[in-house]
Amino acid sequence: MQICRTVSDIRAALAGFRTEGAGVGLVPTMGALHAGHMALVSAARAAHDRVVATIFVNPTQFGQAADLDTYPRTEARDLEQLDSAGVDAVLIPEVAEIYPAGDETVVETTRLANILHGAVRPGHFRGVTTVVAKLFNICQPDAAYFGEKDYQQLHVIRRMVCDLHMPVTIRGVPTVRDTDGLALSSRNARLSRADRAAAPVLARALDAAQASGAATAEALDQVIRDTLATEPRATLTGLDIVRLPAFTPATGPLTGPVGIMISAEFGRGDDTVLLIDQREVHP
Ligand code: PAF
Repeated sequence: MQICRTVSDIRAALAGFRTEGAGVGLVPTMGALHAGHMALVSAARAAHDRVVATIFVNPTQFGQAADLDTYPRTEARDLEQLDSAGVDAVLIPEVAEIYPAGDETVVETTRLANILHGAVRPGHFRGVTTVVAKLFNICQPDAAYFGEKDYQQLHVIRRMVCDLHMPVTIRGVPTVRDTDGLALSSRNARLSRADRAAAPVLARALDAAQASGAATAEALDQVIRDTLATEPRATLTGLDIVRLPAFTPATGPLTGPVGIMISAEFGRGDDTVLLIDQREVHP
């Protein structure tokens, strides 16, 4: 696996792949890799001659400096995992490489970035689209792989690619779950033992929603709230039900597929961990 720390190094690696006539799949990550990321790599590995990954903890998508500072960084282990999974090259740049001195260009989906999770994390999705657009420009992949768990992110990136006519196919990969249903996330490692035991309530709430056969968005909302209320360690911080593919708030009778996004905090005081989960329900 070629380890590249600069834009020119990864471009040289990619130029080599292209002269072989290889198709390239890209897996953008912020490191702290777990089985969820490796599912993205496997999907890319199965579909392309060459797979490129990126590891970059993108400062512009973090609201609070504290969150950025405490984001787990496990470079050696990440590189080992990518190498054993058959990744051909990895870009692992410094911040100044991606955001050159004087950088002032941003990419933003103006509506989608500022609703739902975007409304409570101002600037987050602008940071995501800006860095993903840069990574696409740098690597020019045929396809790029993103987890369905970050559901709004996936929709935001699809919107950007469509609006800006970017020649890359976006592939969503289903959420990888632990045996008790908890969606894998780098944040799970920060949960206390008791909160880790409580956290599968998110998946249970989504299962209950799917099984409920609820006829309206309001009934679906209630099923989820009732299930979460059974777990005192979980504080619901966000629950959104949106019509697909428009991503507009769902109200009244469920006449077509909806996406459900939940976020909840576990822990107390300064030591809380925010977890998210999602499900598409087809009535
Ligand atoms: O999902 C992530 O890990 C990040 O948001 C991404 C897409 C790598 C952009 O920094």
